[in-house]
Amino acid sequence: MGRISASGDRRAAAVARATFTLALALAAGVLLPTAARAQDAEAGKAVFKQVCSICHEVAPGRNRIGPTLFGIAGRKSGSVEGYNYSDGNKGANLTWDAATLDRYLANPRGVVPGTKMAYGGLKDDQKRRDVVGYLGTLK
Ligand code: HEC
Repeated sequence: MGRISASGDRRAAAVARATFTLALALAAGVLLPTAARAQDAEAGKAVFKQVCSICHEVAPGRNRIGPTLFGIAGRKSGSVEGYNYSDGNKGANLTWDAATLDRYLANPRGVVPGTKMAYGGLKDDQKRRDVVGYLGTLK
């Protein structure tokens, strides 16, 4: 009798463990995507330093290989004084808001054909959202 109830306890424990594991799997699979973070400007700043700062400064008037990104949010494309844009960027006629920046950074040449920005695109959705969040702070 003791033996049976001991194995019953083990079975109950195994079921409890399995249920817990299943709950974790569900939480990971179901909750994480919907809990995807909104724009995180701090994280975006780190990404920016890694991938964009080779070519872009964020201080006003400081053009490097690319134009300064100071005040980029809300700015007309191709409008930095004294920066020698490509014809593609000059003629893009975009306003850089969160949506256009997101599309552009995912695929620069797709959104601005003829751009001389030698960058293939930031494919990671979350990193892109974060960078766009950071760009919004540059004012
Ligand atoms: C290899 C250099 C390089 C890298 C890396 C780079 N850019 Fe650029 N970027 C440029 C150049 C050059 C231009 C000007 C394009 C033109 O005139 O065709 C540009 C243009 C832009 C523009 C349009 C500016 C305007 O005034 O219309 C934005 C926005 C921009 N870059 C954001 C970024 C961000 C954000 C990153 C990082 C994810 C990045 N760039 C990475 C070189 C670069």
